[in-house]
Amino acid sequence: MRVLVVGSGAREHALCLALAADPSVTALVCAPGNAGTAAIAEQRGVDPLDPAAVGALARELHADLVVVGPEAPLVAGVADAVRQAGIACFGPSREAAQLEGSKAFAKDVMAVAGVPTAAARVCVTAAEAEAALDEFGPPYVVKDDGLAAGKGVVVTSDRDVALAHAAACERVVIEEYLDGPEVSLFCITDGDTVVPLLPAQDFKRIGDSDTGPNTGGMGAYAPLPWLPPGLTSDVVRRVAIPTVQEMARRGTPFAGLLYIGLALTGKGPRVVEFNARFGDPETQVVLALLDSPLGALLQAAATGRLATHPRPRWRDGSAVTVVLAAADYPGPPRTGDVITGSEQEGVVHAGTRRRDDGAVVSSGGRVLSATAVGATLAEARHRAYDLLAAIDLPGGQFRTDIALRAVEGTIEASPA
Ligand code: AMP
Ligand code: GLY
Repeated sequence: MRVLVVGSGAREHALCLALAADPSVTALVCAPGNAGTAAIAEQRGVDPLDPAAVGALARELHADLVVVGPEAPLVAGVADAVRQAGIACFGPSREAAQLEGSKAFAKDVMAVAGVPTAAARVCVTAAEAEAALDEFGPPYVVKDDGLAAGKGVVVTSDRDVALAHAAACERVVIEEYLDGPEVSLFCITDGDTVVPLLPAQDFKRIGDSDTGPNTGGMGAYAPLPWLPPGLTSDVVRRVAIPTVQEMARRGTPFAGLLYIGLALTGKGPRVVEFNARFGDPETQVVLALLDSPLGALLQAAATGRLATHPRPRWRDGSAVTVVLAAADYPGPPRTGDVITGSEQEGVVHAGTRRRDDGAVVSSGGRVLSATAVGATLAEARHRAYDLLAAIDLPGGQFRTDIALRAVEGTIEASPA
């Protein structure tokens, strides 16, 4: 099978690594890709936000499967264009991708489907925002309704900061604060059958001990030793299946990856957010532990055959990934810094490109992530940090506490 992966982040590099290991994948192309994907896949230039251009490229390549990595192309309708070209696509339609593209839309689907989530108000005017903030009280959670690359959410106890964020966005969702450890559960679906992958945990804040602003994600690990048994099947039953059924009922079936971001609160799991694609950096750790072919699984989802496809198998052990971000991230990052050590096994590239003189330089906010597996979580963590220590990026920033509390055993889900 000939596979085209669309995107240029660490998620796409991780997808390419797993697809390259699938014996049924005979040709692998990544467009536009980065310096990491260039080492394992043919690179093609394309504007990932141009549905017609991606559809034309898929046809020119005689692709059997297109995997759309990031949310922006999905929201722009890239999956629709690929399917119109007669090619199987892993990724939801433009309309179904609204589960990520609009937080107000996602809240509406959850309300109708009876999915447990934070109570929320959609606000446009300052008066509406003030009323919602006072209804829920601090800490305040204010979310830009539209796509914001993981940076549209402000959680603060300062009412003026909350109001200023609301004023800076056209439309916001203001919601109840959810307290408890967060879990990312990826579910593969063909619009009907739901297949969960391994739960993972992401670290959203830039600083150690969850301080500073939100980012796209600074590190991740899987599996989660502290997770209550049965949580995955519970979330599939109470969240994934009702959501997929409600999307089908609306005539906009969701096929692709349903990313369920959860908070495990004292009242049980609550959905924090939906995304319409694999998460980054969680994909690096989840796919590092996958022991069955990825291409065949995504192909089965893209062609409505998940019910009869073998379930994914997982390796024993744990995986940890630590993100190395550029100076100034999550603000506008400094780019063009020379990176050394990035060719090592386990380095997953995000914002990197190869300069004409051969040097690998930074080209984005999250530059790369150091990923390692180990027999135990502690071993995987040591290996990931050892790998990171062998990489140099001037001004690079990383968290030193990825997976630390899980290794120490000081993280706990409150009983439901
Ligand atoms: P989102 O883009 O919706 O995932 O939000 C980004 C991050 O903001 C989440 O991973 C949480 O850490 C935090 N967050 C979002 N919604 C809430 C909430 N209702 N309560 C507490 N934290 C939240
Ligand atoms: N790791 C968070 C995300 O992919 O949105």
